[in-house]
Amino acid sequence: MRTSKIIVYSPGRANLIGEHTDYNDGYVLPFAIKRYVKIEIQPSNVFKIYSEQTKRGIQFHKLEKTNSWVDYVIGMVVKLMERGYEVQPFDMRIDSELPMGAGLSSSAALEVGVGYAITKMMSYDISRVELAEIAHACEVEFVGVRCGIMDQYTVALAKEGHALFLDTLTKEYKYVPLRLDGAKIFLIDSGVKHELGNSEYDRRRQECEEALLMMRKKSFREVTLEDVEKLEDEVLRKRAQHVVTENERVLKTLSALETDNFKLVGKYLYESHYSLRDNYEVSCPEIDFIVEYLEGHPSVYGARIVGAGFGGSVIVLAESDFVKIFEILKDKYRNRYGIELKMMEVYPSEGVFAHE
Ligand code: GLA
Repeated sequence: MRTSKIIVYSPGRANLIGEHTDYNDGYVLPFAIKRYVKIEIQPSNVFKIYSEQTKRGIQFHKLEKTNSWVDYVIGMVVKLMERGYEVQPFDMRIDSELPMGAGLSSSAALEVGVGYAITKMMSYDISRVELAEIAHACEVEFVGVRCGIMDQYTVALAKEGHALFLDTLTKEYKYVPLRLDGAKIFLIDSGVKHELGNSEYDRRRQECEEALLMMRKKSFREVTLEDVEKLEDEVLRKRAQHVVTENERVLKTLSALETDNFKLVGKYLYESHYSLRDNYEVSCPEIDFIVEYLEGHPSVYGARIVGAGFGGSVIVLAESDFVKIFEILKDKYRNRYGIELKMMEVYPSEGVFAHE
């Protein structure tokens, strides 16, 4: 075991395309961003956690659920132990530059970061895939959010300059270079977080399971658009249509990226957005306002809602003069919704890492 302090940086993630496909045996194309949850860890005689955000520290003796953000830490300890990894008590300090509810997966960053910090402190040699799996188990089984595997895999496995193409059925992945010569990626935080996010997310999962049952298929991987069209229930048909077409869009985006055809990539981003808006129904008026405004501008290749939905952020692929367009959008948005938009340029970055 290491006794000196270890500092871990765990990034947030964006997703170029492949939304709501990761719990439907589909494809995703996310990447990590250079915005981090920072975790400092050192062995101690009791478990202590301090948060820079809340300026509060807690000590815990029992590994039980608290129904607060601390569960991401306790859950990781529990899940590591369940897999046979002994965990010594530690003193942990957490600081974050990732806004919560902005669709950048601050929770996966925290889980993976905590797991990485603990395994470094304990000198365990653990693969990044196993780390992602443990973090996913923490989220689903301990915290109780039935999410897919995209976020935890991205935070653990992402690579600088690349997107991560992940097949969530086989869990095979490959790195896809994102050569952004002449194009830039921006994230716009809508400032909106709808509370119904979690329950609606779960409902979408159930609807997809029901659609599979109706089509008598075991996995969305076997489903064609012809199968979808036969679904009698309109809601289930729309959900299934999103999943099948979104998977196709991920594959088409991969080919468009091979030739740096940003125009085409952008077209798929818009298509993805409109499918998430109309078929999957996980957008909201504020986000639609942003995307629809951007679609009129020739220097914007494409834009779409990113993450679970019902608020959060918009990912934009654009030329560098986008900043000017953003200023006008910002005024319009403020006038309409009374909210100050925030924007940042993002680069595909490295997954979790430590400074020792
Ligand atoms: C959230 C979940 C992910 C994924 C996205 C939607 O971020 O945590 O697993 O399902 O929503 O693509």
